Amino acid sequence: MTRTWTSGSEVKRVAVAGGTMLYDASRVGNLRAGWFDPGYWRKQGAATGEAPGRGSTLFFVDSGREYALRHYRRGGLAARLSADRYLWRGELATRPFAEWHLTYHLAHAGLPVAPPVAARYLRHGPFYRGDLITERLVGTMSLAAALAEGGVPILTWIGIGRCLRRFHDLGVCHADLNAHNILLGAEGAVHVIDFDRATLRRPGLWRDANLVRLRRSLDKVTDELPAGRASEADWHSLLAGYREGPQGAA
Ligand SMILES: Nc1ncnc2c1ncn2[C@@H]1O[C@H](COP(=O)(O)OP(=O)(O)O)[C@@H](O)[C@H]1O
Ligand SMILES: [Mg+2]
Repeated sequence: MTRTWTSGSEVKRVAVAGGTMLYDASRVGNLRAGWFDPGYWRKQGAATGEAPGRGSTLFFVDSGREYALRHYRRGGLAARLSADRYLWRGELATRPFAEWHLTYHLAHAGLPVAPPVAARYLRHGPFYRGDLITERLVGTMSLAAALAEGGVPILTWIGIGRCLRRFHDLGVCHADLNAHNILLGAEGAVHVIDFDRATLRRPGLWRDANLVRLRRSLDKVTDELPAGRASEADWHSLLAGYREGPQGAA
């Protein structure tokens, strides 16, 4: 089922050659279709880096503000069939528009997400390709990277649990909750990113499934690292924070 979303007048939907883009005029005033083209930023020396991983996220800077541009790309076996094309099932069902609307809703609810700036799809016959621009969470490091560098303090584990509980209390089922999609900032700040295919749901067992997926990811990213980087005690701290919920942070 495709959800319908309400959004404010700052949200602009604009036809572009071959598709449509959406952007938040309160976050960016001068957005043009060229913004979705990595070459546009590279040519003017405004590309500031690439995210580790699939290599489909580019960081760039415009008017002193930092952004992350992600091209939707398949992982695993599906990528062999089609690297970045998805079957068209209507605008709101596109990866970029669905993720944009959900994160817009979460950002307005005060949850720690990367604020969505713009989304675009381009249609090709029965398929489309998509891109998303978010504000870059400057000064953060993924939980996976933090574990590779050293340990993560116990208060941070508790903070991660509390943070995940806030998302779950709002009914957000993250489709890929892993150590790369949790970003840690200064002073214990915890952000969750990558809401591709995430859904809003009634309470259910999916919440445990989200946590189990994260647990598996922690096992995977710490497998080759020195022992104890994500210990049983750390995991129990995360669960304690989750059980306590956000009010425990006071
Ligand atoms: N807004 C952002 N701020 C900072 N880093 C980001 C942001 N968006 C993405 N990243 C980085 O890029 C990586 C990949 O982005 P993500 O949205 O998770 O896409 P995917 O997992 O599909 O490649 C993240 O793990 C993170 O390191
Ligand atoms: Mg990710």
